[in-house]
Amino acid sequence: MDELLSPDAAGESWRLAGYEARGGYAQARRALTEMSPAAVRDEVRRASLRGRGGAGFPAGVKWGFVPEGDGPRYLCVNADEGEPGTFKDRVILTERPHLLFEGMALAGYAIGASEGILYLRAEYAYLKPHLEKVLDGLRKKKWLGRTIAGKRGFTFDIEIKLGAGAYVCGEESALIESAQGNRGEPRDRPPFPVQNGYLGKPTTVNNVETLCAAARILAKGADWFKAFGTPRSAGTKVLSVSGDCQKPGVFEVPFGLSITELLTMAGGSDARAVQVGGPSGTCIPRAQFDRKIGFEDLATGGSIIVFGPDRDLFEVVHNFMDFFCEESCGWCTPCRAGNVLLRRKLEKIMQGKGTVRDLDEIEAWGKTIKAMSRCGLGQTSPNPILTTLQNFREMYMAKIHADQAFIPEFDLKEAVGDAVAVTGQKLHAAESDHE
Ligand SMILES: Cc1cc2nc3c(=O)[nH]c(=O)nc-3n(C[C@H](O)[C@H](O)[C@H](O)COP(=O)(O)O)c2cc1C
Ligand code: SF4
Repeated sequence: MDELLSPDAAGESWRLAGYEARGGYAQARRALTEMSPAAVRDEVRRASLRGRGGAGFPAGVKWGFVPEGDGPRYLCVNADEGEPGTFKDRVILTERPHLLFEGMALAGYAIGASEGILYLRAEYAYLKPHLEKVLDGLRKKKWLGRTIAGKRGFTFDIEIKLGAGAYVCGEESALIESAQGNRGEPRDRPPFPVQNGYLGKPTTVNNVETLCAAARILAKGADWFKAFGTPRSAGTKVLSVSGDCQKPGVFEVPFGLSITELLTMAGGSDARAVQVGGPSGTCIPRAQFDRKIGFEDLATGGSIIVFGPDRDLFEVVHNFMDFFCEESCGWCTPCRAGNVLLRRKLEKIMQGKGTVRDLDEIEAWGKTIKAMSRCGLGQTSPNPILTTLQNFREMYMAKIHADQAFIPEFDLKEAVGDAVAVTGQKLHAAESDHE
């Protein structure tokens, strides 16, 4: 299953001649010469294409929100790909850049933008020369620049802007700030980017894969696209599969595929757990492996991490919480401080000092952090603990003192142990009993 990644979709290589020989850019020429911008939007809307960056907002609808008018507007492509375990956009950028650039030109036409910005994560800086070379070739062939494909009045070019290595810059408003050269912090919304985006102008932000799918829809039609997937999740999804499996890599599958089926493809059938959607997603146990990938069940921007039978899930959860503590931009207290407190609670439990009360507090604090945070990072950051607490509660129960209501985290004897050893002093009985 590889509708986006098949040679038919892209030519055998990233070279323009190969792509054109297989019908590449023909759909852009047809759309530009035969369809109005509104008709392009309608076809993508009819295909029920939902954003592939994670949230699943319908692409054609988003494009329709851009206000009519002559003023400047922008298309931003989100190639930040910072969610741990996600690397499918890197493969598309490396091997299928023409599919993306064709999708960008079509989306630019659909929203009336003359400038597209490809926001590339800092770690993918090595791809920039390769992509610039492809863009230069497109300019020479008049696929970028003025009067594209002979369409009078349609000018479109693409600029690549590099991030600086922050996960939060994948959030669309932080991405726009960063692309403008500002500190990459999320904005308050409303106004949304479609009203007030890059340089204060109407802007749509789309994931790399979303625009590739749009190019395929305009080539093959909305009905062809809807033949894949499920009623609420049309088409295919490109997944990055990593972890404890024999065949990690990038898989393109129809929405509706079960986790069991995916594990069979990736050689991970003995998994004890699967993390769907990266750390901000959900961790599911074997008993739920018949659940399906799709917006109606297990939504994912593309990250699937397999955990084998010997994997210590506490270590995994701790690692994910480290990630969120590190990546919080610090603007709001629930996210900046709350995640550190959650991680401390987790450590207390991992050290065998937790009680049921700690579990209750984790749940209450996690809910508060999600509800009170300003952007999607904080709104999902407690998920590693909350979803494992929900789906692997027995693991937590085995570590805690279920019979005790409260055990302080502070152990006086342990805390002064080094000093006592150095000075040769002895603790009084009352102090040594205090734990
Ligand atoms: C912390 C955070 C990181 C994100 N990272 C990405 C990312 O790397 N790529 C992406 O496409 N969307 C990412 N998103 C979602 C974007 O904000 C946005 O919804 C998406 O780019 C819209 O494109 P789509 O509609 O085509 O999915 C992230 C969101 C948050 C809150
Ligand atoms: S939720 Fe976290 S990352 Fe988002 S704005 Fe608040 S502090 Fe920054």
